[in-house]
Amino acid sequence: MNAPIVEITRREEFSASHRLHNPDLSDAENERLYGPCNNLHGHGHNYEVEVSVRGPLEQRTGMVMNLSDLMRVLREHIVARVDHKHLNHDVPFLSGVIPTAENIAVAIWNELEPEIEKFEGCRLHRIRLFESRSNFVEYRGSKPMR
Ligand code: NI
Repeated sequence: MNAPIVEITRREEFSASHRLHNPDLSDAENERLYGPCNNLHGHGHNYEVEVSVRGPLEQRTGMVMNLSDLMRVLREHIVARVDHKHLNHDVPFLSGVIPTAENIAVAIWNELEPEIEKFEGCRLHRIRLFESRSNFVEYRGSKPMR
């Protein structure tokens, strides 16, 4: 019998500041587009990030991937690099990117995908990034739109 395919998820929190501003647009256009998020000296969010991994349920361990390994990967490769940082200035993997929730989620995916694939049979399945209680974005990798 084939092993069941199961998704596991780890959630972590971080606090960071950012400013939404596209230098190719005028100041007036930036303000119209981003509103208060264009504030000159930035503003803060308490983010939550969820990382989901999909893989075969290993009979020997009863696990897809040890959740403590997933926690460690997420903390080392993402949280330690963004917590209490200014996302426009302090984070090399976001350099040159407008730090919208969408762009941050894609950048987190790109950082984590090779780390997750080091675990036998495991694939990164989904990144969810909560910017507030009301707003979150999801990214599942670049599969073509249908
Ligand atoms: Ni914001």
